[in-house]
Amino acid sequence: MEKINAVITGVGGYVPDYILDNEEMSRLVDTSDEWIMERIGVKTRHILKPEQGRGVSYLMTRAVRQLMEKTGADPDSVEALICATTTADYHFPSTASVVIGNIGLRNAFGFDMESACAGFLYAMEVGANYIRSGRYKRIIVCGGEHMSSMVNYQDRNTCPIFGDGAACVMMEATTEEVGLIDGYYRVEHDYDHLHMAAGGSAKPPTHETVDAREHFVYQEGRAVFKHAVTKMSDAVETIAKRNGLTNENITWLVPHQANIRIELAVARRLGLSESQVMVNIDHMANTSGGTLPLCLWEYEPQLRKGDRLIFTAFGAGFSWGASYMIWGYDGAKEAAKSPAQFYKEGEISREEWHELREKR
Ligand code: UT7
Repeated sequence: MEKINAVITGVGGYVPDYILDNEEMSRLVDTSDEWIMERIGVKTRHILKPEQGRGVSYLMTRAVRQLMEKTGADPDSVEALICATTTADYHFPSTASVVIGNIGLRNAFGFDMESACAGFLYAMEVGANYIRSGRYKRIIVCGGEHMSSMVNYQDRNTCPIFGDGAACVMMEATTEEVGLIDGYYRVEHDYDHLHMAAGGSAKPPTHETVDAREHFVYQEGRAVFKHAVTKMSDAVETIAKRNGLTNENITWLVPHQANIRIELAVARRLGLSESQVMVNIDHMANTSGGTLPLCLWEYEPQLRKGDRLIFTAFGAGFSWGASYMIWGYDGAKEAAKSPAQFYKEGEISREEWHELREKR
């Protein structure tokens, strides 16, 4: 029997209209554009405002709708939908069930996967294995967050970092030697440095937990930074060595967008130049489970069949890893159907981009 691989055949994405820039951020907390740009690399972030009364399923539904339009896939042919998110609409039902209902995927099952910033990396591996098993041919993997729903806009240590957005990929069966080739994934338990203290079954919500502001992201940045650099660098090196990859034959490093300094440090370990690294943290910020697919969404026009990509992510848990993928299609043709490319290339203003997108 021929070996079955799982390959990405399309990308969709969506970010909310509202843009929170560093000038507005410095009116919320004691910070500055200079500090944020130098220490993190974020200029603006997209925010789904609370008054819109919507959860992450809204972002994912918009992303999947675009994916369906771009690929022209019959909704009845989609067999599963996996949502990597830490900001699910509800404890239950799953965000996947909301998205499946919104899009009308009548033959699909679905579920949420929570592994913070490593969520999409793991969800791709899970999705690929459904396909490799031979039992499923077409599934959608989403990654995205409504981070602003759990960010404390009184805490300058965390609030400049995060943004909202979602993107998704279609994964399909192929017998060609393309798609997700290898993965290295690890967890080393840590609670203290990165968590949300209350709201789960260990500490259900009470008046006291709300008063103590325990329903927000808590992060000890410096410690997380060190672990992120070490673990992601080790993971990409492991994957590279295992697959005979060097700075000369890797086309793209797709790193979790947590901090520009972390991304470039990981790239340096492999001797990669900055032009080989997908970066959108400046205008997307850290969308946790959304960062990797949002990178693909924006860089799709530059992707060519046969390109070699290494994905890497690190997040709460601690959870991290790296994957090796051979890209399966010419991105320029597909991306022409999506306004993300114009935004990325700076050909149009964000306002024009939003207008264009709304018209679609
Ligand atoms: O996505 C999941 C994984 N997360 C990450 O990978 C994030 C990893 N961590 C980081 O990206 C960085 O550690 C941060 C961006 C969170 C912080 O940067 P840092 O360079 O590690 O700063 P720091 O926490 O060591 O703080 C340095 C100084 C402190 O002042 P003192 O104590 O030296 O006087 C902070 O109080 O900067 C101060 N500071 C700020 N100043 C202006 C912290 N936040 C701000 C701020 N504006 N927003």
